[in-house]
Amino acid sequence: MSCLQYRGNQLYIEDVSLKNVADEFGTPCYIYSRSAIEANWHTFDEAFSGIPHRICYAVKANSNIAILHLLARLNSGFDIVSMGEIDRVIAAGGDPKKIVFSGVGKKRDEIEHAIEKKIYCFNIESEPELERLQEIAARMNAAIDVAIRINPNINPHTHSHITTGLNESKFGIDITDVIPLAQKISRSGSLRLVGIASHIGSQIVQLAPFLEVVDRLLDTYQQLLKIGITLRHINIGGGLGITYHDEHPPGIREYARALQDKLRPYNIEVIIEPGRAIVGNAGILLSRIEYLKHTQHKNFAIIDAGMNDLLRPALYDAWQNILPVELHNSEVKQYDIAGPVCESADFLGKNRDLALQSGDLLAIDSSGAYGFSMSSNYNSRCRPPEILVDGSNASLIRRRETIKDLFAAEIIADLAPCD
Ligand code: LLP
Repeated sequence: MSCLQYRGNQLYIEDVSLKNVADEFGTPCYIYSRSAIEANWHTFDEAFSGIPHRICYAVKANSNIAILHLLARLNSGFDIVSMGEIDRVIAAGGDPKKIVFSGVGKKRDEIEHAIEKKIYCFNIESEPELERLQEIAARMNAAIDVAIRINPNINPHTHSHITTGLNESKFGIDITDVIPLAQKISRSGSLRLVGIASHIGSQIVQLAPFLEVVDRLLDTYQQLLKIGITLRHINIGGGLGITYHDEHPPGIREYARALQDKLRPYNIEVIIEPGRAIVGNAGILLSRIEYLKHTQHKNFAIIDAGMNDLLRPALYDAWQNILPVELHNSEVKQYDIAGPVCESADFLGKNRDLALQSGDLLAIDSSGAYGFSMSSNYNSRCRPPEILVDGSNASLIRRRETIKDLFAAEIIADLAPCD
């Protein structure tokens, strides 16, 4: 659910009016609610309290170190996919021993770094990765814990771009290859198989695919037991969807109850990797209308945030609610809400019935996950600041980029003179 509420005709996040945030920090900007993030994390933790469990927040959803710090203080673990994410977690005060490392393309230096930092476990996604891990661990004289990420060929019924557990997907290991691979790991001197994992996609709004995944993982767990391999954990991935519009995903408690019923008899630690369900509804993107543009065919509200700031609508045709920060009595019209970027895909919402005036502020709701973390500098636009609201306080947790930041890493090559 949204973390926004109207008080009178003004939109608030916790006890902070969005208008005040715009006055203080300018627009566009991302704003997050501390209490919403913490409440979601606690709901997961309590909902799984009937079985041994560890929540490893998926850092890619929102990787600001202030957000990671909030979660580290709650004793969260972290699911990471790059060296950058490891170092973010550590900079935020997270415990490396609670990090699981996912991803199909782990580079040598990333593996070495993760071994040096003594992370909890690597989720292996292919046989060549297994061989690379083995070679590096042996060279570094390290014993490392690994899990096999299984591709169970289960359709999560979500957008094709965020479907990850079908046969045609690059992720995970075919379920029929798991036993030989597990045996190979057992024979290796430097790797220890401690778990199996699966993650079949994101923004999943049905319970059935999750239940199928758990069945598949438990089958594999038993097959491994039969050949003498006892695991320490089962990682059921992330993927629980949230309500952006008219979706009805299972609530965190319902999801946890159904999965726990299956897992409880096995008395094994369960790892969960939620990202979106923790931060998605806990953040918004605040933007100002620069121009109202009325053509014979359409009305456009051209705002100061674009696809470089929030890519989801352009990339996945994602629908996110757009709310006026101040309610007033102008005429309601149907608008496309578009950004300033030179691409026709640069829209934040289409066909929205809104009463707008030029200069109004708009809140693009449910932007806490995969919002800032997928932003870019396309069109040489400075990325927006991020602000964390805690009660009646609003703190800057990332400053707005400057024009200088944009080309600070660039170098004009020393060229031979032109002819
Ligand atoms: N674990 C693994 C291995 C993942 O790849 C992901 C997300 C998660 C956990 C967390 O999934 P979540 O609970 O957030 O659904 N950019 C897309 C979503 C991409 C998700 C990638 N993997 C979007 O904006 O919808």
